[in-house]
Amino acid sequence: MAAPLPAPMPQHVAIIMDGNGRWAKQRGRPRTFGHAEGVEALRRTVEAAGDLGVRFLTVFGFSTENWRRPAEEVNALFDLLRLYVARDLDKLAKEGVRVRVIGERHGLQPDIAGIIEDAESRTAHNDKLNLTIAFNYGGQDEITRAARMLAQEAVAGRIAPKDISPEMFEAHLDTAGLPPPDLLVRTSGESRLSNFMLWQSAYAELAFMDVLWPDFDRAALEEAIAFYSRRERRYGGHGA
Ligand code: FPP
Repeated sequence: MAAPLPAPMPQHVAIIMDGNGRWAKQRGRPRTFGHAEGVEALRRTVEAAGDLGVRFLTVFGFSTENWRRPAEEVNALFDLLRLYVARDLDKLAKEGVRVRVIGERHGLQPDIAGIIEDAESRTAHNDKLNLTIAFNYGGQDEITRAARMLAQEAVAGRIAPKDISPEMFEAHLDTAGLPPPDLLVRTSGESRLSNFMLWQSAYAELAFMDVLWPDFDRAALEEAIAFYSRRERRYGGHGA
């Protein structure tokens, strides 16, 4: 008897890490405590993704809409990015993780922009796991910036509007060079995309999980991958 075919693995997993606030509230603690625990869940997930053979992992760390939260919470999220990079970059670099950050850089504090550039350049040669952190990121903002770049190129006469194709558009997104996500996970039971990877998720399988992000672990990632492996992807066709 032929051996069973291996279940398909998602090459690219994208995660909306939701539920930090509720997790903290359940424990009578401030929301920022939930975010700090969220970083621990991120550490576990990066490790598990590498072990399981996921090649691309993209996580939503701070959205363009998160600026509406109280300043104290916004500052805490920026501090967590600083802390995560300061504590983990050496290990990530050593373990073959390539770090990228997508989102609007303009307007970020200069030290954050520097930290991001340093993390990207120090890991640029790695390719075991590609970790992309969406920070000050919004899908509509990303698409608008790409449209603006193309409009500027057209006005300058470098391209003709009729030559703009989905491929050319994609090459102007923050994710240029990354494959689209195969599996998009959102934790905490919400079933919304919340402006995350709107263009890129066109054919992603969507997994909405009840677990709150700080409780996410290897078993939860395995569960999401198992869900993906059971799906039959058609990309707009009707299948065999
Ligand atoms: C959503 O939970 C989560 C966020 C807005 C931020 C996600 C950030 C982390 C996991 C830690 C930071 C990591 C980096 C690398 C910056 P929520 O606050 O909306 O939770 P709620 O819906 O329960 O209120």
